[in-house]
Amino acid sequence: MNFHTRKWIKPEDLNPNGSLFGGRLLSWIDEEAVIYAIVQLSNPYVVTKYISEINFVSSAKQGDIIEMGITATHFGTTSITMRCEVRNKITRKTILSIDKLVFVNLDEEGNPVPHGKTEITYAYMSIDSFPDRQQG
Ligand SMILES: CC(C)(COP(=O)(O)OP(=O)(O)OC[C@H]1O[C@@H](n2cnc3c(N)ncnc32)[C@H](O)[C@@H]1OP(=O)(O)O)[C@@H](O)C(=O)NCCC(=O)NCCS
Repeated sequence: MNFHTRKWIKPEDLNPNGSLFGGRLLSWIDEEAVIYAIVQLSNPYVVTKYISEINFVSSAKQGDIIEMGITATHFGTTSITMRCEVRNKITRKTILSIDKLVFVNLDEEGNPVPHGKTEITYAYMSIDSFPDRQQG
C-alpha cells in the first residue's frame, strides 16, 4: 500500500476533547479514495457507493503528522473496491482502517457504466483521459 497524502493535524481538525475529529478524517479519506478511483478508472465521474466498518484504532492529536494509504483490492464491472489505512507518519501507529470502500464508475448522465479495468495501473494519466476538461 502506498501512503500518498499527508496531513498535519491543526486546531480546526480537533473534536471538543482535543483529539482528531473522526468526521474530518472520513472526509479526507473519501477525497483520497475518489482521487485514487478517478486515476485508476481514468474517469472523473466516480461516486462513493459503500463504506464498510470503520475501525478507529488509535487517536491523533494536534501537531501529529498522519498519512493515508489506499489500495485497490477488487475491480468489478462498474465498481472498484479499495482498502484504506491511516497511520501516524512518525510512529507508524495505525489510526484507522477500513476494509472496503466501493466506488462506482458513472457515465455523464450518472448511470453505472463498465470501466474495463482489471488491475492497478501505476502509469500517469494524460489529459486525453479527460477530453471535456481540456482548456481552449
Ligand atoms: C452509484 C449508483 C448510481 C449505483 O446505482 P445502483 O443502482 O446501485 O447500481 P448497480 O446495482 O448497477 O451497482 C453498481 C455497482 O455497485 C455495486 N454495489 C451496489 N450496491 C453495493 C453495496 N451495497 N455494497 C457494495 N457494492 C455495491 C454493484 O455490485 C455494482 O458493481 P459491479 O458492476 O462492479 O458489480 C447509485 O447507488 C447512486 O447514485 N448512489 C449515490 C452515490 C452518491 O451520491 N455518493 C456520494 C454519497 S455522499
